[in-house]
Amino acid sequence: MEEKKNLIVGQSGGPTAAINASLAGVYCGAKHFGFEKVYGMRFGIEGFLNEKIVDLDETLNSELNIELLKRTPSSYLGSCRYKLPKPEAGNEVYQKAFELLEKYSIDVFVYIGGNDSMDTILKMSEYAKIIGSPIKFVGIPKTIDNDLPVTDHTPGYGSAAKYIATCISEVVRDSNVYDLKSVTFVEIMGRNAGWLTAAAALAKNSFNDGADFILLPEIGLNLKAFINILGNRLNEKNNIVVAVSEGIKDQNGNYISEDEGNVDAFGHKMLSGTAAYLAKKIKSELGVKTRAVEINTLQRAAAHLQSKTDIDEAFNIGFLGVKAGIEGETGVMMYFDRVNDAPYLSIVRKCDISLVANIEKEIPRGWISEDGFGVNEKFIEYAKPLITGELSNIVCEG
Ligand code: F6P
Repeated sequence: MEEKKNLIVGQSGGPTAAINASLAGVYCGAKHFGFEKVYGMRFGIEGFLNEKIVDLDETLNSELNIELLKRTPSSYLGSCRYKLPKPEAGNEVYQKAFELLEKYSIDVFVYIGGNDSMDTILKMSEYAKIIGSPIKFVGIPKTIDNDLPVTDHTPGYGSAAKYIATCISEVVRDSNVYDLKSVTFVEIMGRNAGWLTAAAALAKNSFNDGADFILLPEIGLNLKAFINILGNRLNEKNNIVVAVSEGIKDQNGNYISEDEGNVDAFGHKMLSGTAAYLAKKIKSELGVKTRAVEINTLQRAAAHLQSKTDIDEAFNIGFLGVKAGIEGETGVMMYFDRVNDAPYLSIVRKCDISLVANIEKEIPRGWISEDGFGVNEKFIEYAKPLITGELSNIVCEG
């Protein structure tokens, strides 16, 4: 077997509570499969292009540090939202990138990220083909949004979904406390897909009503009709809780609340203030007490509520991504193929990156309730295994 050179790994896009478990899996996979050096990109591809590169052997060289890393939320290496130009021969950005890959004798390039980050794998692998480079490019999925196609789910979603379900069950308790009419709006991330907002449904059980309404980006909001429905529900029940996605749109497809001034490198508008807008509107229309709770970045680094399933899977998919690289796979993303619900089992496979990059997966309409204000048993069966389990306390030498 030809001598193993070096591997480099980067993290990209928004933080999650599982992204460092995937980094730990990549590092352990690289050591297991015999790579000489394992380098980390500081601040993703953007930092890499400025040669902000660290030697991970200097910090991850013990079982204790690996276990700590798996439990540490948000990107250990730092992250970026950086869109590479179209890969064309002679493009100076790619010339610089491949000079650096040569300088560090990189054999496999691993990138942990979401839809936009897989664009980096797509473009780097395409440029490698143009110049005949043997370097392999492998994507590891990551996002709390759970909106990557092909894969059953993404690392980071299960832990964030567990956090959302917990928050909603606690907000319901809080909102029930006074004998008066109230509506509490809880704004949840997820951009243009409602997977994370739908996790509010997991709060419902025999001793908690859960969210009364779940407003998803997949369903255009008819605000006038919703106000009437809310008014009728308030005749039956004092305290209403509404889980609302940051990305809900009106029936013309316009975001209910966007921060025009803030657009990221991939053209995504910053979404914030949807709950505040609705709370103000409902207060003026129905004259009841309203409150807006914007969970915002709290849902992305909630390590105190990590899902064991999520963390274990995040580690494994990172580890197996290295194996795919060694086996010569390039321009691929690793993904979960769910083979069984109960007992739950997903296996790791690889797919062509062109099936994933820059594509967003929405909740199937058949998993959303008839009236469009909730999700049904199909979603519950899908999501429940993903939020299961807690990590043990660290037990290792050193
Ligand atoms: O992509 C994950 C995500 O958390 C989205 O849910 C959210 O809209 C976006 O990132 C926020 O991006 P940023 O952290 O760049 O403001």
